[in-house]
Amino acid sequence: MGWSSLVLQYSAGLIALLGGDEPAGGVVIYHVCRYVMNQSKKSIDWSNLGFSYVETDLRFSARWRDGVWGDGELIPSADMAVHEGSPVLHYAQACFEGLKAQTAPNGDVLLFRPDLNCQRMGRTTERLLMPTVPESLFMRGIESVVRANAAWIPPHGSGASLYIRPFLIGVGENLGLRPAPEYEFRVFVSPVGPYYKGGGLSLINLAVIDLDRAAPKGLGAFKAGANYAGGLLATQMAQSLGAQEALYLDPSEHRFLEEAGSANIVLKMKDGSMVTPESESILPSVTRRSVMTLASDVLGLSVSERPVDFLAEVDDIDEFAACGTAAVISPVGKIRMADHWYHFHGDGEMIGPTTQKLYDLLTEIQRGEREDTFGWTRAV
Ligand code: PLP
Ligand code: COI
Repeated sequence: MGWSSLVLQYSAGLIALLGGDEPAGGVVIYHVCRYVMNQSKKSIDWSNLGFSYVETDLRFSARWRDGVWGDGELIPSADMAVHEGSPVLHYAQACFEGLKAQTAPNGDVLLFRPDLNCQRMGRTTERLLMPTVPESLFMRGIESVVRANAAWIPPHGSGASLYIRPFLIGVGENLGLRPAPEYEFRVFVSPVGPYYKGGGLSLINLAVIDLDRAAPKGLGAFKAGANYAGGLLATQMAQSLGAQEALYLDPSEHRFLEEAGSANIVLKMKDGSMVTPESESILPSVTRRSVMTLASDVLGLSVSERPVDFLAEVDDIDEFAACGTAAVISPVGKIRMADHWYHFHGDGEMIGPTTQKLYDLLTEIQRGEREDTFGWTRAV
């Protein structure tokens, strides 16, 4: 281990000892540690990162026992030991969130709308009979992990970001189908590049597969781990057809657009309006809500959220895009359904101008390159 890694580990360790926050009695030590860590960025080829797990120095862990949340702490080990009867292992009592931290030109580290992730986790925990993670614990977990892993935060201009994964699992001795006796809330981070191969803003294809993601009154609108296990086969089938992801239609009639496996859908129609599919079984995406606001308030487009009958309306769609934290805004060139490829803007070979503008607006706000008039970013 080189001296810089040693200094970095000691600084991260000290910050962990101080609880990850700026302490009343240790402000100077805290800021010296942060300075050292910022100076000692990891030697990573930031611009060539994909969306893969990279182990960072510290993660946050808090336990819920007997109806009470512990304070939580930063810990070094990426491994988790859980009881073999834990409900998470058998009955998928698990949920998660995903958000990113980005470095602004002035060096600030910005989170994007973390309050919405916390609210969404609250809705999911209610649905899965899990204890609510209080906003103060959620934010402390996120901010302390980001600060403690400052050396892993991609620098401004690299195109990469720090992906933050908060999650909650039901643990403890159990056999019958009932909520867990204990819960663990964890947050880890990983520096990431683009979710889809091709990088930045590149065209993807989707395929409609004969499988559903969600049932009408099921878990579709919640960020439950179970939804994603159920989607693995659909993704594999879509990929075998030459698409990156599955595109789901509504589970009742298989007519109306729902969402992709890891992203919501936004459409620029040929009449100039923006439309996003309305459905009770899709995840309420933070990115989609932000993109629709940018489309109406900055680009001045007429926007609506309504059911979209895919085959009846496909010829009215000019630009088709998938959006999410990992996917950012990904223009969709082609969609395969029942042996036919439907092509969008520029015969499926070009990124549409509205998608490009929305991508620029969103990513500039997220990276602190454009004035955040909506108050969406929060410096850590
Ligand atoms: N839909 C699904 C199924 C997702 O997993 C995600 C990712 O979080 C999204 C949509 C996009 O949501 P957000 O923009 O909040 O990341
Ligand atoms: C995200 O975009 O944050 C997600 O959770 C999607 C996941 C499948 C990577």
